[in-house]
Amino acid sequence: MSLLTICLLQLAVSLSFAVADCPKLCSCIGTETIVLTCTGLGLDSWPSTIPQHTSTVNVSHNEIGFLDTAENVHTTSVESIDISYNLLEKINGQWILQYPFLKSLNITRNKIKKLDFALSSNIQKLILNFNSMELLDVKHLMSFRKLKELHLEGNTIRLLKSSDVNSVSETNSPLETLSLRNNSVSAINGDSFSGLTNLKHIYLAHNKIRSVSKDAFQVTTKLEVLDLSYNEISAIADGTLQKLDHLQFLSLSNNRLVKIPGKLPALQWLDVSYNRLAKISESCGSNIYQHDVLLLGGNPFICDCHLQWLKDFLETRKYLQKYMNVEHSKFFPTCSGPSKIANKGWDILQSDEFICEKSNFETADSAKEEDAVNFIASHIGDSYIKLEWDFQEGLLSKKSSCRINYHPFGRRNLLKSKVIENRAGKYMNTLQDLIEGTPYVVCLQVLNENGGQDYEKCLEIVTKDSESENSKETWVITDYLFWSCLFICIICLLSYVFDNTLYVLVVNKLFEKMRENSVEKNHNKKCD
Ligand SMILES: *[C@@H]1O[C@H](CO)[C@@H](O)[C@H](O)[C@H]1NC(C)=O
Ligand SMILES: *[C@@H]1O[C@H](CO)[C@@H](O)[C@H](O)[C@H]1NC(C)=O
Ligand SMILES: *[C@@H]1O[C@H](CO)[C@@H](O)[C@H](O)[C@H]1NC(C)=O
Repeated sequence: MSLLTICLLQLAVSLSFAVADCPKLCSCIGTETIVLTCTGLGLDSWPSTIPQHTSTVNVSHNEIGFLDTAENVHTTSVESIDISYNLLEKINGQWILQYPFLKSLNITRNKIKKLDFALSSNIQKLILNFNSMELLDVKHLMSFRKLKELHLEGNTIRLLKSSDVNSVSETNSPLETLSLRNNSVSAINGDSFSGLTNLKHIYLAHNKIRSVSKDAFQVTTKLEVLDLSYNEISAIADGTLQKLDHLQFLSLSNNRLVKIPGKLPALQWLDVSYNRLAKISESCGSNIYQHDVLLLGGNPFICDCHLQWLKDFLETRKYLQKYMNVEHSKFFPTCSGPSKIANKGWDILQSDEFICEKSNFETADSAKEEDAVNFIASHIGDSYIKLEWDFQEGLLSKKSSCRINYHPFGRRNLLKSKVIENRAGKYMNTLQDLIEGTPYVVCLQVLNENGGQDYEKCLEIVTKDSESENSKETWVITDYLFWSCLFICIICLLSYVFDNTLYVLVVNKLFEKMRENSVEKNHNKKCD
């Protein structure tokens, strides 16, 4: 018997075995691991047999109302179950325990009312979108010992609570992603996330949140993404988010805020578009400059002299639009007053149109401070930026020093720092090893003797794109070197073969000439 026939026979046997075990009308595909699919068959119960080596069971789009435990099932290999679009009101705890190695369970679009079951210990991802849940008891999540992702979108959850805070504090849930998008949550309280110390992503868009407790995010110190857009929040107390050092993305869009929350951590993305911001005082500047992307559109701004600083600031950020996929109206605010420029967009208005009727605006202290430092990029290359700055007398004390922080726009994880000691006169410094054709955020900080920060000014600089001449030049040089080397090799070969001193002489002469030439070339290149 040939090897091929043996193989074919084996395949036939394994196939017929799988098919024999496969529930009626369902498909069982695969040999090593089997994907059992019984979708859209009008089934009213869980399959009575599950073939050996089944890794995925898909019974979505049926009419299953109860999950029976069965004896004829091979369950230890099952890692993923999809029961979406069925009629389940409850998860049978016995049933779930039959699948000890289950990692992902999708129960989207059923009628589950409560999270009252125990999960088998391996489940990492649980999807319960569009069910009938009204309450999320955070304490119950503690019993899900491996759960990393929980999706509860499109339920009617009104309340996030922790039934017994004390017992919670002993164990921490490994949960990293909690999505409660499109529910009816009305408040975030101090215990809403208690014990969920590993949360990185919280999605709460499209709820009815009116109040956010000041201690709500005390335990979620690893938080990176917080989406609170499309709610009814009119205020968030200063400092509520202050300790979230890892927070990168914060959306407060489409709420009722009249003020940007104070003491925010430095963010990569802050969206406060479509709120009720009418003015932002220049003294809040430091709460604004530090964020890479700031979306302010859709607010009823009064565009008078008090807002001119913000208009000027946004002007320096205009180029960001090129790098982002954001609607125009979210990026550029429109004025709601004074009447002369009402309904005009900031992209068409000039800064000097932001005026006050009665000229009663004071020369603010911060404006004076702005002039006290002259911080510029004197030279911008493809991989380097030369910086220059000097201070007005009196701003620096003897013990203060400067620090430069810089990172590519939107990639704060690549942040680098340089500390430069205090001295008299003009400062110069070059940032090197930068990525070409990339926008950088470069901030100059003045540190006082206690290491605290006295002053900060940031520039945004795009490094040059070096594609054009440089590469052509190197090509010419390498080309030149290549042909000369080839020529020398041939000469060497000849000289070796004929062992003739005349050839050696010629070669030496040539070598000298070449070296001179290339030194000249290198020199020329440096002067560029
Ligand atoms: C199950 O089948 C449905 C319908 O064909 C499909 O949309 C879904 O992605 C499948 N689930 C898995 C886990 O493959
Ligand atoms: C259920 O979730 C799984 C895992 O995320 C996914 O592959 C599958 O497509 C989802 N099913 C449906 C019907 O969306
Ligand atoms: C929210 O869920 C409802 C159904 O529960 C759905 O009709 C609606 O489109 C969803 N809204 C959003 C914004 O996703």
